[in-house]
Amino acid sequence: MALQNKLGINNSAELARVEERISKIKAIELYESNIVEEFEVGKFSGLAKIHKFLFDEIYDFAGKARTVNIAKGNFRFVPVMYLETALKHIDAMPQSTYDEIIEKYVEMNVAHPFREGNGRSTRIWLDLILKKELKLVVDWNKVEKEDYLLAMERSPVKDVEIKVLLKNALTDQIEDREVYMKGIDASYHYEGYNTFKSEDL
Ligand SMILES: Nc1ncnc2c1ncn2[C@@H]1O[C@H](COP(=O)(O)OP(=O)(O)OP(=O)(O)O)[C@@H](O)[C@H]1O
Ligand SMILES: [Mg+2]
Repeated sequence: MALQNKLGINNSAELARVEERISKIKAIELYESNIVEEFEVGKFSGLAKIHKFLFDEIYDFAGKARTVNIAKGNFRFVPVMYLETALKHIDAMPQSTYDEIIEKYVEMNVAHPFREGNGRSTRIWLDLILKKELKLVVDWNKVEKEDYLLAMERSPVKDVEIKVLLKNALTDQIEDREVYMKGIDASYHYEGYNTFKSEDL
């Protein structure tokens, strides 16, 4: 039932709970250490390091690009066979303006490079780009979770909603831990709103 994991948990609800707790603890650790400063900003390699840091105790695939096709709702993320090409393309995307950064974030979400934990790791990745390039971050406390999900579902077709939503939540409090931590909340998903292997649909 549950995704294969290092903790030997078979129940998916329990795995979700344990995974959320561990990834939050790891996120605090990441924030309080300086390691994150060495991560490549706006590159897949940097995102992979964030993902590995958050999920290494839980999944063998932490920090590794997925090897199965996945979907959420009606949306199929980039097929495995094109994933490497897509990630190279995203690495090369510009990130000097707010719009460029969100467009890059949207493309990384469409790639969904990991089997699980894309949302949490990519929100940190986004904040690191915004922080470096614009000296701003998203105050995720100001982002209504349902609005965020609707905007992300819509983003592969039209990115105006996510651009407006996140722009209204920008803050220059870039060193504020509360601001940063909220983005790691796994609470952005609806209960039972899982990622599926496309082959299972
Ligand atoms: N239908 C959809 N189409 C495109 N993107 C989606 C869709 N549904 C969700 N997303 C994006 O996928 C993310 C969730 O991906 P995933 O489950 O791999 O990450 P997570 O860290 O476990 O979850 P969360 O972001 O909910 O904390 C959401 O945050 C959202 O950005
Ligand atoms: Mg998830």
